[in-house]
This record gives sequence, structure tokens and C-alpha cells, in this order.
Amino acid sequence: MGATSIPPAFLSANELLLFLCLIVCSLEGFSCAESHQYQYTHTIHVASLLPSSACTSDAAAQAWDKDSSLSVVHKHGPCSQLHQEKASIPTHAQILLQDEVRVKSIHSKLAKNLDLNNAKQTDAAAQLPAKDGSLIGSGNYIVTVGLGTPKKDLSLIFDTGSDITWTQCQPCVRRCYKQKDPIFSPALSSTYSNVSCSSTACSSLNSATGNSPSCSSAACVYGIQYGDSSFSVGFFAKEKLTLTSRDVFNNFLFGCGQNNQGLFGGAAGLLGLGRNKLSLPSQTAVKYKKIFSYCLPSSRSSTGFLRFGNGRVSKSVNFTTLSTIPQGESFYGINIIGISVGGKKLSISASVFAGSGAIIDSGTVITRLPPTAYSALRSEFRGQMKQYPMAQPLSILDTCYDFSKYSTVTIPTISFLFSRGVEVPINARGILYANGKTQVCLAFAENSDDSIVAIFGNTQQKTLEVVYDGATGRIGFGTAGCT
Ligand SMILES: *[C@@H]1O[C@H](CO)[C@@H](O)[C@H](O)[C@H]1NC(C)=O
Ligand SMILES: *[C@@H]1O[C@H](CO)[C@@H](O)[C@H](O)[C@H]1NC(C)=O
Repeated sequence: MGATSIPPAFLSANELLLFLCLIVCSLEGFSCAESHQYQYTHTIHVASLLPSSACTSDAAAQAWDKDSSLSVVHKHGPCSQLHQEKASIPTHAQILLQDEVRVKSIHSKLAKNLDLNNAKQTDAAAQLPAKDGSLIGSGNYIVTVGLGTPKKDLSLIFDTGSDITWTQCQPCVRRCYKQKDPIFSPALSSTYSNVSCSSTACSSLNSATGNSPSCSSAACVYGIQYGDSSFSVGFFAKEKLTLTSRDVFNNFLFGCGQNNQGLFGGAAGLLGLGRNKLSLPSQTAVKYKKIFSYCLPSSRSSTGFLRFGNGRVSKSVNFTTLSTIPQGESFYGINIIGISVGGKKLSISASVFAGSGAIIDSGTVITRLPPTAYSALRSEFRGQMKQYPMAQPLSILDTCYDFSKYSTVTIPTISFLFSRGVEVPINARGILYANGKTQVCLAFAENSDDSIVAIFGNTQQKTLEVVYDGATGRIGFGTAGCT
């Protein structure tokens, strides 16, 4: 090997990049020492982006009860018991459409609450006001919890964007939609009790659901609607909640839904992980100090976890600031500072993210960015993806590629920088959203305006250990939380 300035042919694309970086840096007189720790590209098998029909849930996931973890699975994947018929699984275009509806609902919730003082009181007791938007969406994750005595298992969608936990209840006075688990029957549980209309818990429903409670023979009646004609109305009640054999709560406040309708896709209801005092983290604060963590699996055929308390938080988790959103107290605010693509920090003025603000949400599928930030991300990504043929846009995703002629592809890494210097590398499966080999898209989208709140969505959270610490005001990110 004579000429050292020629890259040897056996170098991988990755090594080649480092090699080039060394040359460029030495030319410019900079040191590359720091950048060497970062990876600039991911080389992935195209087939690994496509859905698998088998659940590859591992032994660790089976042992969930031993370590106070709940198993997290995608609602529509093979690890979920909810949907066995292919026909009932929504297409990617439908999922993205529903995601847009959820995002609109979050945005309108935040915008509406802005002029709360001017808003006139609606008579929510009699009839639920129609609100646009479904907060539920379709790209959601479910966990199984136990309710009542004897305990009945229920698969619930977990949602950091809402507060009260509810499940459909017998006798379904008005109606129940189809669910996979048997519908919970309070009459068969020895630990069920109604909450009275005069209780503080009942009046707290106002802030948790956005609707005033009503009364039925002294029993407190809640109502929550998610637009899109999705709603749940029923008795606000107390019951024994069993998360794991070591995590059991008496008198847990929940909604026992007697009239339910919507896009819940076979789930028995919803587990509310928001920040309001009726949420699960608030109700269990004495034990868990408002700390919970989860890992969303990289694909629909694998399993993640949901854990409460800080018992098993990894040492390698880095914490950024959890901020409060004045207009939406239920939401978890985070401070995005910047974005890097292929190790290159995008030049986005600090005022862009500061102006929009941001939340992290378990139920939004695709991260939404201020248009100024998104266009910087898109143009850098497209620049580094020039070698691949582009494809038609997919719904809200405008940067798509046709990978049908490739078995592996090399894509730039993307990382998010949050306040306190926390840099979070996005998993390759969180960078691309595949609608088959011929249409694999950059999994980010833009808001309609720079002033609208950014949302760090669940595709980008895949495989990360995400730790919510509502008591000390921190959000932590660790890599390799699950596969
Ligand atoms: C709860 O209240 C409803 C409405 O008054 C009533 O039908 C039901 O029997 C009550 N359940 C219990 C356990 O008290
Ligand atoms: C946490 O931060 C340290 C120091 O910046 C970094 O070396 C480490 O990779 C980070 N860990 C994670 C999981 O991001």
C-alpha cells in the first residue's frame, strides 16, 4: 500500500466518511477527535423496514411481571392480541391521516386554552360539545393491566397526551364498541365503588376532561370526547388497579364507560399518563414519585416496556428539562435546541424552537417541526440521500425513496439536541417510515406555521428508554432501551 491519500477499496461507506473527514479537517486545520465518537450513517437492510408477520417477543418481555414492567406492543402488530384480521388493520395512509387529526386536536387544544378567559361556559353536563380531532389516533401502543377483584386483564392504549384512565363497562347502558377482552363488569368485582357527585375527585374532572361532570342518582358521571365521533361517557368510579403483582393500587379513580364509541381498535380503553391530578402518574405519586419510563419497540413484531418508578432506570440515561406548557397542563414540554443530520448540525436559529415550544407525546406517530426547521432537515437529508431515486410523497411525508433495487441502504444519522446538552440519536427505524420497498419516507413532517408547538412523536422515540420524571421536572433519554 503506497499512496496513503487514496482510500483503500475495502473501507465501508462509514469508514470512508471518517477518512474524508480526516482529510477535510486536516486541510482546514480542525481536529476531528470529537466527531469520531459519532456515527454519521446507518447501513440497514431494506427488508428490515418492512413488517414481519411473526411476533419476536423475547424472554425478557415474558418475564415482565418479575421486574415491575408491563409489556408494550403496537396496537396493530402481530404481538398485539387485538387485531387478528388483516382487513381491520389500517393502511399507512390511513394511519398518517389519523395522526394528522390527533395533531390538529393537540394544536387546537393548546390554542383554545389560550383564550380560556374569554371562552363561554358550555353546558357539558347535558351534552358533550363536539370538538374537532381525535386524540387517540391509530399509531398507538397498548399495555395490559388488571382491574377489579378478582382481577380482569384489560388491554389499554397508553397515552401521555391524556389524563383519565377509562375502560368500557357492563352493562353498556348506551353502547360499547367491539373489544378483544371481555368487557369489565363492576357488578362482578368486590372492590368497585361509585364516586359521589359532591367529591373533589368528581369536580377534578373539569380540568382532566375539559367537560363538567354530571350526576346520576348521586353518582358522578364523566364524559370525554376525542372528536371524530370518538368518546366515552360513564360512571366515575374507584377500583383496585393491578399493574404488576407488586404494583397494586386500591381506590384508583377511573372511568367506567357506559357509552363508548370510536377508533380504539379493539382496545378496552385508555391509560392516561398525562400530568393532571387524575392521571395515573399523579394518582400513584406516593409510590412512584410521578416517574415512569417506557420503550417503544423498533417494529410491530417486537415488544417494549412500560415501567413505573425509578427502580430500573438505566444509569446511562441523560436528563433534559421537562417544561410545563401554560396552555396545556397535561402535556410534557421539552426544549428542542437543534438537529444534526449525518453529524452536521443544521443551522436553525435558536429562536425557531424557542418560539414554537415542543411537547413529547406517546400517541403522535410522526414528529412535527416548525416549517423553518423541517425545511433545513429535509434539504440536508435529501442532499445526503442523492444516490437514491425518489418516490411519490406518502400523505404528510414529502421525502420518499424507492428502495426496490437495493438490499441495503446507507442513510445519514439524525440526532436531536435538547436543553442541558442532551443529544439523542434517533434509531434508523425512527428516521424512515416504510410503505413497502418502493416508498420509504423521511419520517418527519412540518407544522403549518413556525409559531405552532412542535411534537416529538413515537416513531422517533422507538428503542429509546424515555424516562418521565414529573416530580423533579426532568425527561431522560437512553439508547438501546429495547429492540
Ligand atoms: C353506581 O351508580 C349507578 C347509577 O346510580 C348505579 O346504577 C350502580 O348500581 C352504582 N354501583 C354501585 C356499586 O354502587
Ligand atoms: C449521555 O451523555 C454522555 C455525555 O455527553 C454521552 O457520552 C452518552 O452517550 C449519552 N448517553 C445517551 C444514552 O445518550
